[in-house]
Amino acid sequence: MEIYILTLFPDMIQTVMRESIVGRAQDAGHIKVHAVNIRDYSTDKHKKVDDYPYGGGAGMVMFPQPIYDAVMAVRAQVGREAPVIYLTPQGKTFSQEMAHDFAGEDALILLCGHYEGIDERVIEEVVDAQVSIGDYVLTGGELAAMVVADAVARLVPGVLHNQESAGTESFEDGLLEYPQYTRPRVWRNREVPEILLSGDHAKVDAWRHEQSVERTKQMRPDLIKKAGA
Ligand code: ADE
Repeated sequence: MEIYILTLFPDMIQTVMRESIVGRAQDAGHIKVHAVNIRDYSTDKHKKVDDYPYGGGAGMVMFPQPIYDAVMAVRAQVGREAPVIYLTPQGKTFSQEMAHDFAGEDALILLCGHYEGIDERVIEEVVDAQVSIGDYVLTGGELAAMVVADAVARLVPGVLHNQESAGTESFEDGLLEYPQYTRPRVWRNREVPEILLSGDHAKVDAWRHEQSVERTKQMRPDLIKKAGA
């Protein structure tokens, strides 16, 4: 899978996306994250990408031309259908379900806005979906794009070494994850729950499910209704 992130800050993307599991997945060829500098596509002689908003108001607005040309260049390079997703607090809230939908694509084009946003006409012209990572405002779309890229990448076959762990995480069954323990068996007088040492897999599974339900009721009662647990 190929993920193209269109941004004014390509270094920010490259620095983060070459680390850890996503970095390893890129080295292994399971995914490729391309940071595309929107400024490279500006036809302005000073490589300008933004201007004052019509109607007045604070801040600057990214004008359509460089964004449109960058998207068209990436589309030509991809050579197949790839959805253009604009990261914005106005978008639909990102979820595990959306991550699965995106992971089914061969390629994704993630568009990061900056300043006061981007000209509405380029959104109408090229954007297929608008996605928010939550009800708060970031300084730009880069962190949001990387949140989406990370959540999608771990669902691409081969990225996680233990494929099982993609399915048992929080949200996959609409519940939060059960508590995990490792050695030592006793730490600061706190013992690992006895049942986990029993070797009885059916009992362990039942206990874990119970813990997931309990934890979800406590921390996220809103999810319980959806899960029907
Ligand atoms: N850009 C700025 N804030 C954002 C958010 N919460 N989600 C997605 N993109 C953003």
